[in-house]
Amino acid sequence: MQIYVEPDAIKRERYAEQLLRAGYQTVPDMIELQRYFNGHPDCLLVVFGAAVELDEVLEFSAYQRVQRPELGIVLVRTRVTNALLQSALRAGVREVVRDDETDIRAACLRAIEVGKAMQTTVRPARTADSTAKVITVFAGKGGCGKSVVATNLAVALAAGGSRRVLLIDLDLQFGDVAIMLKLAPARGIADAVPMTGRLDESGLRSLITHYIPGCDTLLAPANPASADQISRDLVTELLTTARPLYDFIVIDTSSAVTEQVLAALDSSDWYVLVVTPDLPTLKSIRLTVEMFDLLTYPPDQRLILFNRADSQVGLSIEDVEEAVGAPLSTHMPSSRDVPTSVNKGTPLILENPGHPVSRAVRGLADRCAGIDREPERVRRRALLFGRRNASKKPARSDAS
Ligand SMILES: Nc1ncnc2c1ncn2[C@@H]1O[C@H](COP(=O)(O)OP(=O)(O)O)[C@@H](O)[C@H]1O
Ligand SMILES: [Mg+2]
Repeated sequence: MQIYVEPDAIKRERYAEQLLRAGYQTVPDMIELQRYFNGHPDCLLVVFGAAVELDEVLEFSAYQRVQRPELGIVLVRTRVTNALLQSALRAGVREVVRDDETDIRAACLRAIEVGKAMQTTVRPARTADSTAKVITVFAGKGGCGKSVVATNLAVALAAGGSRRVLLIDLDLQFGDVAIMLKLAPARGIADAVPMTGRLDESGLRSLITHYIPGCDTLLAPANPASADQISRDLVTELLTTARPLYDFIVIDTSSAVTEQVLAALDSSDWYVLVVTPDLPTLKSIRLTVEMFDLLTYPPDQRLILFNRADSQVGLSIEDVEEAVGAPLSTHMPSSRDVPTSVNKGTPLILENPGHPVSRAVRGLADRCAGIDREPERVRRRALLFGRRNASKKPARSDAS
């Protein structure tokens, strides 16, 4: 399968006639491209017409260079300068050609040939230390904010495309990830069922819905009845297959401890436990902590996120810490902007990165990524107050 992106309707029609015979799909823009592209993991070539924004092409290429190295990208421009050539090739574009049908055709044939050769080449495995860290977001109660945390955390970890993150919706019956990210679930976990026991990298890629640079998703089934067909072993297999391809895998879960959720917990490096200041949630977190102890999930890998931490409901931080039996890692305030962002289908961290909720999520992402900004802050504060105190400090008297 090959795709031709051409915003110019007249050209699109002209090329469609020429190209469709050769098996090309023409699309008008990046959104349509993404739609076709996600549904065709076998796509070997994307041609960008002269009117497509260069920045969009470069962003797409840079991302695909890592995700699908065998994909050929041909860029058509009315004028080809050295500077353009350099930046395009650096981003992973395979050919840059003038807007001439014969040139385009020749470039496409070359690009497809290279792609086919690469498909049959065994790619070197990524180094062992580059396998994804798995982060499971869990709470024994619904409505605590698991999906809000998981979606924002995945975006925070992707850091604008500098890391590769897979967000998996393991709330198999009532998953909200698709709706919270405004994604059409064309394919998802349910489509993995026929591949159980023989899932490979290209099979996994065919299930993925791309969200933004650096962030892919594996969506829950649209039909809740499909949940039963997804076995514990399949979840483990999905994680094993995805691990070498990503830096982080974030898993949103149901409130029930299903066998699929247990499979995710068993494979996790970090457990994000979401807790809100109300008695039923505190009771359930206590039970969750006891279950984690029984399953011997290491306490130092549990991160307790206190959501709606500022709600004035008579429960103090100390009450919550006592119930959880561990210190809280992250405090996330309550804000009307959270449900507004959910209803818009855009994570708050994308829309308002400076929002206190976004800052809390970034703090959590830093913890998961092993970035500790605290010592630097503490050091600076100590330096500042230390100096101030030193200047005010009265001379010590030894008279007493
Ligand atoms: N910090 C917050 N401030 C305000 N509303 C929140 C906050 N966190 C979550 N919510 C709201 O709570 C509801 C449940 O959140 P959700 O993430 O779907 O919970 P869960 O996945 O645990 O069932 C959503 O409507 C969301 O907008
Ligand atoms: Mg949820």
